[in-house]
Amino acid sequence: MTQDELKALVGRAAIDYVVPGTVVGVGTGSTVNCFIDELARIKDRIAGAVSSSVKSTERLQALGIPVLDANEVERLPVYIDGADEIDHGGYMIKGGGAALTREKIVADIAERFICIADESKLVQTLGRFPLPVEVIPMARAQVARRLAALGGEPVWREGVVTDNGNVILDVRGLSITDPAALEAEINQWPGVVTCGIFARNKASVCLLGTAQGVRTLTW
Ligand code: A5P
Repeated sequence: MTQDELKALVGRAAIDYVVPGTVVGVGTGSTVNCFIDELARIKDRIAGAVSSSVKSTERLQALGIPVLDANEVERLPVYIDGADEIDHGGYMIKGGGAALTREKIVADIAERFICIADESKLVQTLGRFPLPVEVIPMARAQVARRLAALGGEPVWREGVVTDNGNVILDVRGLSITDPAALEAEINQWPGVVTCGIFARNKASVCLLGTAQGVRTLTW
C-alpha cells in the first residue's frame, strides 16, 4: 500500500471513534484531510466540528460540516489528528503543518486524542523529526539561543506565519527521552506559545496504517 492509501485507511477507521450527536475535534494535515472526507459522509449524525486550523475549517465548511468556535463547546468526546512522530507511550511531535498551538488547544478540550498515522510515524524515541516551536516574533532570536543551549539546532521556518500570527522554529538534534519534562521546560520560556511535544495532551489511541491493515495502540 502507498503512504496515501495508508492515510486513507486510518482516516476511514477513525470514523468508528466519532460519537453520534456530539461535536468532533478535528486536527490538521494530509491524514486528517482523509478523515474529514469520511466525516462528510456522516455529517447528519454529528453536531459539528471544532477545527485546529484555518485550512481544516475551510475543508470542513466546503463539505457542509458546521464549524463551531472552541469557546462555544464545553466538551469534546474525541479529538482526531495526525502526528509527525508518535512513540510507544503515545507521546507525539506535532506541528509540521504549523498548526501545533490550535491543535493543542482543541486536544485539551477533548476527553480522548485519537491519533491517525501511517506506520512510518511510529518511533522508539521522539526527535528525529525536527521539533516545531511556535514563538512570538519578537522572541525568535532569544528562544533560538535557549534551544541551542539545550543542544538543539533551531532553524527559523522562514516565510511561515501561523494562524496566530507567530513564527516557527524547527529544532533538529534533540533526542527526547523525557517528553513531559522537555515540553514543560520549553513552554515556560518567555515568548514561546507552545512547543510541538504533546505529552500532557498525548494520544489515548493510535490508529496506525500498516500493510497488514489498521494496528490499534491504546494507552
Ligand atoms: C500539523 O501542524 C501537524 O501537527 C500534523 O498533524 C502533522 O504534521 C501530521 O500531518 P500529516 O498527516 O500531513 O503527516
